[in-house]
Amino acid sequence: MTTSTSTRLTMPPCPHVPRPYTGPARSEVLATRRQYANPAIFTIYKEPLMLVEGHLQWLFDETGKRYLDLLAGIVTVSCGHAHPKVTKRVQEQAATLAHATTIYLHPLMGEFAKRLAARMPPGLDVTYFVNSGSEANDLAIMMARLYTGNSDVIALRNGYHGGSPTAMALTSHHTWKFPTQVNSGIHHALCPDPYRSKFTGTPEQIATQSAEDIRELIKFSTPGRIAAFLTEPFQGVGGVTHGAPNYLREAYAIAREHGGLCIADEVQSGFGRTGAHYWGFQNWGVVPDIVTMAKGIGNGLPLAAVTTRRDIAEKLTQRIHFNTYGGNPVSMAAGLAVLEVIDEEQLQENAHIVGGRFKAGLQKLATRHRLIGDVRGMGLMLGVELVRDLQTKEPAKEETLAVMEHARELGVLIGKGGLYGNVLRIKPPLCITAADVDFALEVLDRALAEVAP
Ligand SMILES: Cc1ncc(COP(=O)(O)O)c(C=O)c1O
Repeated sequence: MTTSTSTRLTMPPCPHVPRPYTGPARSEVLATRRQYANPAIFTIYKEPLMLVEGHLQWLFDETGKRYLDLLAGIVTVSCGHAHPKVTKRVQEQAATLAHATTIYLHPLMGEFAKRLAARMPPGLDVTYFVNSGSEANDLAIMMARLYTGNSDVIALRNGYHGGSPTAMALTSHHTWKFPTQVNSGIHHALCPDPYRSKFTGTPEQIATQSAEDIRELIKFSTPGRIAAFLTEPFQGVGGVTHGAPNYLREAYAIAREHGGLCIADEVQSGFGRTGAHYWGFQNWGVVPDIVTMAKGIGNGLPLAAVTTRRDIAEKLTQRIHFNTYGGNPVSMAAGLAVLEVIDEEQLQENAHIVGGRFKAGLQKLATRHRLIGDVRGMGLMLGVELVRDLQTKEPAKEETLAVMEHARELGVLIGKGGLYGNVLRIKPPLCITAADVDFALEVLDRALAEVAP
């Protein structure tokens, strides 16, 4: 460790004192996991980090060392780790009735669906509950196919939609696709992100040309009619990429011209994360036909949902549709508490304000650090693309890992994304403060200077 990384920057204070850790040693946890758990799961640091306690935007390892969490458990912890209100509701519900299934009535499921409807554009008012984002996307595609009678689906290159069979087919990164995947009727249109687009012109012109690619794809790869166009309003795993504001409007119009329903995957961008709006799609002035949600909806509990119009939802009534844990009372209690906390603590507004501060700070860093090729995103969904050369845009993959290692050393956990693994992903719990942002910027400044002086 060099002198400058070892000089600690001052972390904003945190009133929470973690309990002394009394569990097995980190080495034992690692060895047990390596021997008995799924060998495909990965850890991101050279020395795997063990986390044993959390408090809002803070995480603690087994030694009691505190970290500012800028990834929120992969964009999942919307309100904050162990948020007192969410925790209390979950504990109360678990102690009262942890499981019921939808074959019986329970008050929380309808109530949660009603409160989600109140946050959606008019007409999007029927919700199916599932357990993961992958399941939500699978279900959304099945609904679109049933509703339209068409089977072809257009998704976007550089998108990530999950690991279940249909979701993996929707995903457009070779790194996440197993060779077992049969890409049945799913086609990937060009990504409108201007930073790496093959098209030239202004971001708006690139967006229009990218939207036109959907028309080409429909013409050449489908019978001319499609079931759906599914995209993330902001590509999360892809490195917070998105098109100019005209992209989704033009893309939705082309998809609809060809009979397709428009599906917004809000798994990462929903629930106020982008600041200006509650849902990511609202930033682009479009109204989807189906919205899929997961992650932030449950603040860490396995909860996901598909919201759509009644005429679309009713297509599922032609067969028995059942999901054992969909609508689980504990998950419903968590989801209801999340909606309340976002409102009560004005987390969307906070994402807008502190996210704006963060982005401005990152843009300032970009003027001083030659590694930073692009700063993008909105609210608390930000990406910083690192490149070796600003002209060639050669991805700075090893440097990205090195920046993350230095930041960890200094007490900040950051995510990584992008097809080349060269994008720093900043998506903290929505409760971070301006002081946290300033601290994180100082840490990044230091880490970037260490990696590329
Ligand atoms: C945009 C998006 N959609 C879907 C998924 C899949 O969600 P899950 O991992 O809960 O299946 C993810 C997960 O990262 C995601 O980021």
